[in-house]
Amino acid sequence: MASPLTTTLTPSQLGRLGDAAFAVAHNAYAPFSHFRVGAALLLSQPASDTIVTGCNVENASFRLTTCAEQSAVAVAVAQHGPGIRILAVAVANLNGQPSQPCGACRQTLLEFSLLETLILYPGANGQPEQRLLSDLLPNSFALDHA
Ligand code: THU
Repeated sequence: MASPLTTTLTPSQLGRLGDAAFAVAHNAYAPFSHFRVGAALLLSQPASDTIVTGCNVENASFRLTTCAEQSAVAVAVAQHGPGIRILAVAVANLNGQPSQPCGACRQTLLEFSLLETLILYPGANGQPEQRLLSDLLPNSFALDHA
């Protein structure tokens, strides 16, 4: 059974977040995969209800590609500092494909997330889906600061 979702976004927040992810996907640099991705983060701290966006930026040396979610996190920290907390993330692509955040992006998002950070993404059959980050990344890595 799926975990209960207690982070609830208003229809207005959901709409703004999804729209922002879709809009920024148009800026993607994806000449190799042609898979254009956008991510929008809804921050709860330090600037609550603030949306920060990022897109994928590919590189001829393929492994240097930056995913949209990672770009958005880097922008959020640069703009708002290291105390950011992410309430929700919307992921969109211009290819009409289902796409969840990759494993590396899940770990990147986790660094600045809350217990109930919500991930919204295009699921199968074009239907939007939402899951808790903790469900998408169980047993995540954590550094135990002594
Ligand atoms: N990509 C993202 O931007 N986010 C993900 O979570 C998965 C993949 C990008 C990386 C690459 O530019 C393209 O999608 C195809 O893998």
